Amino acid sequence: MTWVSQLRERESLFRRAPSAHNTQPWTIDYRADEIVIGVDPERSLPDSDPTGRDLALGLGAFTETALIVAADAGLNVGCDLSDPARIRLVPAAERYDTIFHAADVDLRRVARGPYAEGLLDLVILAALEPGLVHVRSRALAGELEEADRWMFGTPPVARELRAWLRLNPRDPRYDRDGLTDRALGLSRLEARVLSGALRGYGLTRRLGLPTLLAASSRNLLRYDGSVLVLTGPSDDLRESGRRLLRTWLLLARFGLAVHPLSQLLDCPATNARLAERVGATPLAVFRVGYPQHEPARSARLSPSAPDHGDRAVRPVQQGLAGRAQQQPGQR
Ligand SMILES: Cc1cc2nc3c(=O)[nH]c(=O)nc-3n(C[C@H](O)[C@H](O)[C@H](O)COP(=O)(O)O)c2cc1C
Repeated sequence: MTWVSQLRERESLFRRAPSAHNTQPWTIDYRADEIVIGVDPERSLPDSDPTGRDLALGLGAFTETALIVAADAGLNVGCDLSDPARIRLVPAAERYDTIFHAADVDLRRVARGPYAEGLLDLVILAALEPGLVHVRSRALAGELEEADRWMFGTPPVARELRAWLRLNPRDPRYDRDGLTDRALGLSRLEARVLSGALRGYGLTRRLGLPTLLAASSRNLLRYDGSVLVLTGPSDDLRESGRRLLRTWLLLARFGLAVHPLSQLLDCPATNARLAERVGATPLAVFRVGYPQHEPARSARLSPSAPDHGDRAVRPVQQGLAGRAQQQPGQR
Protein backbone atom coordinates (compact mmCIF):
# COMPACT_ATOMS: atom_id res chain seq x y z
CA MET A 1 0.00 0.00 0.00
CA THR A 2 1.48 3.39 -0.96
CA TRP A 3 1.83 6.27 1.50
CA VAL A 4 -0.87 8.11 -0.49
CA SER A 5 -3.42 5.33 0.05
CA GLN A 6 -2.42 5.00 3.71
CA LEU A 7 -2.98 8.69 4.29
CA ARG A 8 -6.17 8.58 2.27
CA GLU A 9 -7.51 5.97 4.67
CA ARG A 10 -7.17 8.63 7.36
CA GLU A 11 -8.97 11.37 5.41
CA SER A 12 -11.86 11.64 7.86
CA LEU A 13 -9.33 12.40 10.59
CA PHE A 14 -7.45 15.20 8.84
CA ARG A 15 -10.79 16.62 7.71
CA ARG A 16 -11.18 17.58 11.39
CA ALA A 17 -9.06 20.65 10.49
CA PRO A 18 -10.84 23.94 11.28
CA SER A 19 -12.15 26.38 8.68
CA ALA A 20 -14.04 29.68 8.88
CA HIS A 21 -17.83 29.03 8.96
CA ASN A 22 -16.86 25.34 8.73
CA THR A 23 -17.00 25.56 4.93
CA GLN A 24 -14.14 23.02 4.55
CA PRO A 25 -12.97 24.79 1.39
CA TRP A 26 -10.25 22.35 0.40
CA THR A 27 -10.13 19.88 -2.48
CA ILE A 28 -7.98 16.78 -2.13
CA ASP A 29 -6.45 15.28 -5.24
CA TYR A 30 -4.78 11.93 -4.57
CA ARG A 31 -2.09 11.22 -7.16
CA ALA A 32 0.49 8.44 -7.51
CA ASP A 33 3.17 10.00 -5.28
CA GLU A 34 1.70 13.28 -4.05
CA ILE A 35 -1.52 14.73 -2.70
CA VAL A 36 -2.52 18.12 -4.07
CA ILE A 37 -4.64 20.39 -1.91
CA GLY A 38 -6.64 23.03 -3.78
CA VAL A 39 -9.60 25.29 -3.09
CA ASP A 40 -13.26 24.73 -3.86
CA PRO A 41 -14.52 28.18 -4.90
CA GLU A 42 -18.06 27.23 -3.94
CA ARG A 43 -16.82 26.82 -0.38
CA SER A 44 -14.95 30.10 -0.11
CA LEU A 45 -16.45 33.21 1.47
CA PRO A 46 -16.11 36.03 -1.08
CA ASP A 47 -18.13 38.52 0.98
CA SER A 48 -16.97 37.71 4.50
CA ASP A 49 -13.38 36.97 3.53
CA PRO A 50 -12.72 39.01 0.37
CA THR A 51 -8.95 39.12 0.88
CA GLY A 52 -8.77 35.34 1.34
CA ARG A 53 -7.12 35.73 4.75
CA ASP A 54 -9.22 33.07 6.50
CA LEU A 55 -9.10 30.83 3.44
CA ALA A 56 -5.30 30.83 3.42
CA LEU A 57 -5.14 30.37 7.21
CA GLY A 58 -7.57 27.46 6.91
CA LEU A 59 -5.48 25.82 4.18
CA GLY A 60 -2.40 26.16 6.36
CA ALA A 61 -4.28 24.61 9.29
CA PHE A 62 -5.46 21.79 7.02
CA THR A 63 -1.87 21.13 5.86
CA GLU A 64 -0.54 21.04 9.41
CA THR A 65 -3.35 18.69 10.41
CA ALA A 66 -2.59 16.33 7.51
CA LEU A 67 1.13 16.34 8.36
CA ILE A 68 0.38 15.45 11.99
CA VAL A 69 -1.92 12.62 10.92
CA ALA A 70 0.74 11.34 8.49
CA ALA A 71 3.47 11.45 11.15
CA ASP A 72 1.19 9.64 13.60
CA ALA A 73 0.69 6.90 11.00
CA GLY A 74 4.48 6.52 10.69
CA LEU A 75 4.56 8.04 7.20
CA ASN A 76 7.38 10.30 6.01
CA VAL A 77 5.43 13.17 4.47
CA GLY A 78 6.32 16.82 4.01
CA CYS A 79 4.66 19.75 2.29
CA ASP A 80 5.53 22.06 -0.56
CA LEU A 81 4.01 25.53 -0.30
CA SER A 82 6.03 27.09 -3.13
CA ASP A 83 3.04 27.29 -5.48
CA PRO A 84 0.66 29.97 -4.20
CA ALA A 85 -2.31 28.29 -5.93
CA ARG A 86 -1.98 24.84 -4.36
CA ILE A 87 -0.32 22.88 -1.59
CA ARG A 88 1.45 19.60 -2.28
CA LEU A 89 1.92 16.84 0.26
CA VAL A 90 5.04 15.01 -0.87
CA PRO A 91 7.32 12.18 0.26
CA ALA A 92 9.99 13.30 2.75
CA ALA A 93 13.26 11.83 4.01
CA GLU A 94 12.01 11.84 7.59
CA ARG A 95 8.82 11.81 9.56
CA TYR A 96 7.35 15.26 10.23
CA ASP A 97 8.72 16.44 13.58
CA THR A 98 5.73 17.27 15.76
CA ILE A 99 4.71 16.78 19.38
CA PHE A 100 1.09 16.25 18.29
CA HIS A 101 -0.77 13.03 17.56
CA ALA A 102 -3.91 11.87 15.80
CA ALA A 103 -5.75 12.09 19.15
CA ASP A 104 -4.98 15.84 19.40
CA VAL A 105 -6.46 16.34 15.93
CA ASP A 106 -9.54 14.31 16.78
CA LEU A 107 -10.23 16.05 20.10
CA ARG A 108 -9.64 19.65 18.92
CA ARG A 109 -12.73 21.83 18.75
CA VAL A 110 -13.79 25.43 19.11
CA ALA A 111 -15.80 26.31 22.24
CA ARG A 112 -18.14 29.30 22.02
CA GLY A 113 -19.81 29.06 25.45
CA PRO A 114 -18.74 30.72 28.71
CA TYR A 115 -15.19 30.30 30.03
CA ALA A 116 -14.01 30.29 33.64
CA GLU A 117 -12.62 33.62 34.91
CA GLY A 118 -8.85 33.92 34.93
CA LEU A 119 -5.96 34.99 32.75
CA LEU A 120 -3.69 32.63 30.87
CA ASP A 121 -0.86 31.27 32.96
CA LEU A 122 2.49 32.90 32.18
CA VAL A 123 4.11 29.48 31.80
CA ILE A 124 1.62 28.62 29.06
CA LEU A 125 2.10 31.99 27.38
CA ALA A 126 5.85 31.40 27.29
CA ALA A 127 5.36 28.00 25.63
CA LEU A 128 3.41 29.45 22.69
CA GLU A 129 4.66 30.05 19.16
CA PRO A 130 6.25 33.42 18.38
CA GLY A 131 3.97 36.24 17.24
CA LEU A 132 1.12 35.66 19.69
CA VAL A 133 0.11 38.74 21.66
CA HIS A 134 -1.96 38.58 24.84
CA VAL A 135 -4.80 41.07 25.37
CA ARG A 136 -7.20 41.14 28.31
CA SER A 137 -10.69 40.23 27.16
CA ARG A 138 -12.38 43.22 28.81
CA ALA A 139 -10.21 45.56 26.73
CA LEU A 140 -11.89 44.23 23.58
CA ALA A 141 -15.50 43.97 24.83
CA GLY A 142 -16.64 47.26 23.27
CA GLU A 143 -14.63 46.52 20.13
CA LEU A 144 -16.43 43.20 19.69
CA GLU A 145 -19.80 44.87 19.99
CA GLU A 146 -18.84 47.36 17.28
CA ALA A 147 -17.47 44.57 15.06
CA ASP A 148 -20.65 42.53 15.49
CA ARG A 149 -22.82 45.54 14.64
CA TRP A 150 -20.71 46.02 11.54
CA MET A 151 -21.00 42.32 10.60
CA PHE A 152 -24.76 42.08 11.02
CA GLY A 153 -25.19 45.52 9.43
CA THR A 154 -23.28 44.59 6.25
CA PRO A 155 -25.88 42.75 4.12
CA PRO A 156 -23.59 40.51 1.99
CA VAL A 157 -21.64 39.42 5.07
CA ALA A 158 -24.80 38.67 7.06
CA ARG A 159 -26.28 36.79 4.07
CA GLU A 160 -23.15 34.68 3.73
CA LEU A 161 -23.26 33.83 7.42
CA ARG A 162 -26.90 32.85 7.05
CA ALA A 163 -26.01 30.55 4.15
CA TRP A 164 -23.65 28.55 6.38
CA LEU A 165 -25.88 28.41 9.45
CA ARG A 166 -27.45 25.01 10.13
CA LEU A 167 -29.93 25.94 12.84
CA ASN A 168 -32.42 23.14 12.29
CA PRO A 169 -31.34 19.52 12.90
CA ARG A 170 -33.67 18.50 10.04
CA ASP A 171 -31.53 20.49 7.59
CA PRO A 172 -30.05 17.82 5.22
CA ARG A 173 -26.69 19.61 5.49
CA TYR A 174 -26.73 19.50 9.30
CA ASP A 175 -24.13 16.71 9.58
CA ARG A 176 -22.01 17.88 6.65
CA ASP A 177 -20.75 21.41 7.11
CA GLY A 178 -21.54 24.90 8.38
CA LEU A 179 -22.33 26.14 11.87
CA THR A 180 -24.98 24.22 13.76
CA ASP A 181 -27.09 25.56 16.62
CA ARG A 182 -25.23 23.13 18.88
CA ALA A 183 -21.78 24.27 17.75
CA LEU A 184 -22.87 27.87 18.36
CA GLY A 185 -24.16 26.90 21.81
CA LEU A 186 -27.69 28.14 21.05
CA SER A 187 -30.84 26.87 22.74
CA ARG A 188 -33.69 25.80 20.40
CA LEU A 189 -35.44 29.09 21.14
CA GLU A 190 -32.33 31.20 20.43
CA ALA A 191 -31.76 29.25 17.22
CA ARG A 192 -35.34 29.93 16.10
CA VAL A 193 -35.06 33.64 16.89
CA LEU A 194 -31.75 33.95 15.01
CA SER A 195 -33.10 31.96 12.08
CA GLY A 196 -36.24 34.12 11.88
CA ALA A 197 -34.30 37.37 12.22
CA LEU A 198 -31.90 36.44 9.44
CA ARG A 199 -34.69 35.12 7.20
CA GLY A 200 -36.46 38.46 7.23
CA TYR A 201 -33.12 40.25 7.10
CA GLY A 202 -34.15 43.11 4.78
CA LEU A 203 -37.00 44.18 7.02
CA THR A 204 -35.39 43.49 10.37
CA ARG A 205 -32.25 45.33 9.31
CA ARG A 206 -34.34 48.46 9.03
CA LEU A 207 -35.85 47.66 12.41
CA GLY A 208 -32.41 47.59 14.04
CA LEU A 209 -31.45 43.92 13.73
CA PRO A 210 -27.69 44.58 13.68
CA THR A 211 -27.82 46.27 17.08
CA LEU A 212 -30.09 43.55 18.41
CA LEU A 213 -27.85 40.71 17.26
CA ALA A 214 -24.70 42.49 18.37
CA ALA A 215 -26.24 42.83 21.83
CA SER A 216 -26.24 39.04 22.16
CA SER A 217 -22.42 39.07 22.26
CA ARG A 218 -22.20 42.17 24.44
CA ASN A 219 -21.04 40.23 27.47
CA LEU A 220 -18.89 37.68 25.66
CA LEU A 221 -15.66 39.44 26.63
CA ARG A 222 -16.84 41.17 29.81
CA TYR A 223 -14.99 38.88 32.21
CA ASP A 224 -11.39 38.59 33.37
CA GLY A 225 -10.13 36.40 30.60
CA SER A 226 -7.54 36.19 27.86
CA VAL A 227 -7.60 36.90 24.17
CA LEU A 228 -4.67 35.97 21.92
CA VAL A 229 -3.85 37.74 18.70
CA LEU A 230 -1.80 35.88 16.10
CA THR A 231 0.38 38.39 14.27
CA GLY A 232 2.77 38.04 11.37
CA PRO A 233 3.42 38.93 7.78
CA SER A 234 0.32 38.91 5.59
CA ASP A 235 2.21 37.42 2.62
CA ASP A 236 2.77 34.08 4.35
CA LEU A 237 -0.71 33.27 5.57
CA ARG A 238 -0.60 29.54 4.97
CA GLU A 239 2.46 29.24 7.23
CA SER A 240 0.59 31.37 9.78
CA GLY A 241 -2.35 28.97 9.50
CA ARG A 242 -0.01 26.11 10.42
CA ARG A 243 1.18 28.15 13.41
CA LEU A 244 -2.43 28.86 14.38
CA LEU A 245 -3.31 25.17 14.34
CA ARG A 246 -0.26 24.24 16.43
CA THR A 247 -1.19 26.96 18.91
CA TRP A 248 -4.76 25.67 19.26
CA LEU A 249 -3.52 22.10 19.72
CA LEU A 250 -0.98 23.15 22.32
CA LEU A 251 -3.57 25.11 24.28
CA ALA A 252 -5.87 22.08 24.14
CA ARG A 253 -3.10 20.01 25.73
CA PHE A 254 -3.45 22.33 28.74
CA GLY A 255 -7.22 21.81 28.69
CA LEU A 256 -7.76 25.26 27.19
CA ALA A 257 -10.33 25.98 24.50
CA VAL A 258 -10.35 28.73 21.86
CA HIS A 259 -13.07 30.82 20.27
CA PRO A 260 -12.03 32.84 17.20
CA LEU A 261 -13.54 36.33 16.83
CA SER A 262 -12.63 37.14 13.23
CA GLN A 263 -15.18 39.94 13.00
CA LEU A 264 -12.64 42.04 14.97
CA LEU A 265 -10.36 41.76 11.94
CA ASP A 266 -13.09 41.96 9.28
CA CYS A 267 -14.49 45.26 10.54
CA PRO A 268 -12.04 47.87 9.21
CA ALA A 269 -12.30 50.19 12.24
CA THR A 270 -11.72 47.51 14.89
CA ASN A 271 -8.98 45.93 12.76
CA ALA A 272 -7.07 49.21 12.61
CA ARG A 273 -7.34 49.74 16.38
CA LEU A 274 -6.30 46.15 17.11
CA ALA A 275 -3.25 46.51 14.85
CA GLU A 276 -2.29 49.64 16.74
CA ARG A 277 -2.83 47.94 20.11
CA VAL A 278 -0.63 44.92 19.29
CA GLY A 279 1.86 46.87 17.16
CA ALA A 280 1.73 44.36 14.30
CA THR A 281 -0.60 42.98 11.63
CA PRO A 282 -3.26 40.84 13.35
CA LEU A 283 -4.03 37.67 11.38
CA ALA A 284 -6.32 35.85 13.80
CA VAL A 285 -7.86 36.69 17.13
CA PHE A 286 -9.44 34.29 19.59
CA ARG A 287 -10.38 34.12 23.24
CA VAL A 288 -8.79 31.37 25.27
CA GLY A 289 -9.93 29.73 28.47
CA TYR A 290 -11.30 26.77 30.35
CA PRO A 291 -14.78 26.17 28.93
CA GLN A 292 -17.58 25.71 31.42
CA HIS A 293 -19.46 23.30 29.13
CA GLU A 294 -18.23 20.58 26.83
CA PRO A 295 -18.40 22.02 23.28
CA ALA A 296 -20.27 20.16 20.53
CA ARG A 297 -18.34 18.29 17.84
CA SER A 298 -18.71 20.09 14.52
CA ALA A 299 -19.97 18.49 11.29
CA ARG A 300 -17.72 17.33 8.46
CA LEU A 301 -18.19 16.21 4.87
CA SER A 302 -17.59 12.51 4.32
CA PRO A 303 -14.32 11.47 2.75
CA SER A 304 -14.47 10.68 -0.94
CA ALA A 305 -14.64 6.96 -1.78
CA PRO A 306 -11.32 5.88 -3.35
CA ASP A 307 -13.05 4.24 -6.33
CA HIS A 308 -14.92 7.42 -7.19
CA GLY A 309 -12.28 9.79 -5.94
CA ASP A 310 -12.79 12.31 -8.69
CA ARG A 311 -15.94 13.52 -6.89
CA ALA A 312 -13.68 15.41 -4.50
CA VAL A 313 -11.00 16.17 -7.04
CA ARG A 314 -11.23 19.41 -8.91
CA PRO A 315 -8.74 21.22 -11.05
CA VAL A 316 -6.54 23.58 -9.10
CA GLN A 317 -8.50 26.71 -8.41
CA GLN A 318 -7.46 30.17 -9.35
CA GLY A 319 -7.55 33.18 -7.19
CA LEU A 320 -6.02 31.93 -3.97
CA ALA A 321 -2.63 33.41 -4.68
CA GLY A 322 -3.80 36.91 -5.44
CA ARG A 323 -6.38 36.94 -2.68
CA ALA A 324 -4.03 35.67 -0.01
CA GLN A 325 -1.50 38.39 -0.80
CA GLN A 326 -3.81 41.27 0.02
CA GLN A 327 -4.00 42.97 3.36
CA PRO A 328 -6.54 41.47 5.74
CA GLY A 329 -9.63 43.45 6.58
CA GLN A 330 -9.92 45.31 3.27
CA ARG A 331 -13.44 45.43 1.96
C1 LIG B 1 -9.29 31.15 9.95
C2 LIG B 1 -10.45 30.80 10.83
C3 LIG B 1 -11.32 31.80 11.25
C4 LIG B 1 -12.40 31.50 12.09
N1 LIG B 1 -13.22 32.50 12.52
C5 LIG B 1 -14.22 32.21 13.38
C6 LIG B 1 -15.04 33.24 13.93
O1 LIG B 1 -14.89 34.41 13.63
N2 LIG B 1 -16.01 32.89 14.81
C7 LIG B 1 -16.21 31.60 15.20
O2 LIG B 1 -17.09 31.35 16.03
N3 LIG B 1 -15.44 30.59 14.70
C8 LIG B 1 -14.47 30.88 13.82
N4 LIG B 1 -13.66 29.88 13.35
C9 LIG B 1 -13.86 28.50 13.82
C10 LIG B 1 -14.64 27.69 12.81
O3 LIG B 1 -15.97 28.13 12.71
C11 LIG B 1 -14.55 26.24 13.25
O4 LIG B 1 -13.23 25.81 13.10
C12 LIG B 1 -15.46 25.33 12.43
O5 LIG B 1 -16.80 25.65 12.68
C13 LIG B 1 -15.24 23.86 12.76
O6 LIG B 1 -15.44 23.64 14.13
P1 LIG B 1 -14.30 22.99 15.04
O7 LIG B 1 -13.10 23.87 14.95
O8 LIG B 1 -14.90 22.96 16.42
O9 LIG B 1 -14.04 21.62 14.50
C14 LIG B 1 -12.59 30.16 12.50
C15 LIG B 1 -11.72 29.16 12.06
C16 LIG B 1 -10.67 29.47 11.23
C17 LIG B 1 -9.72 28.38 10.77
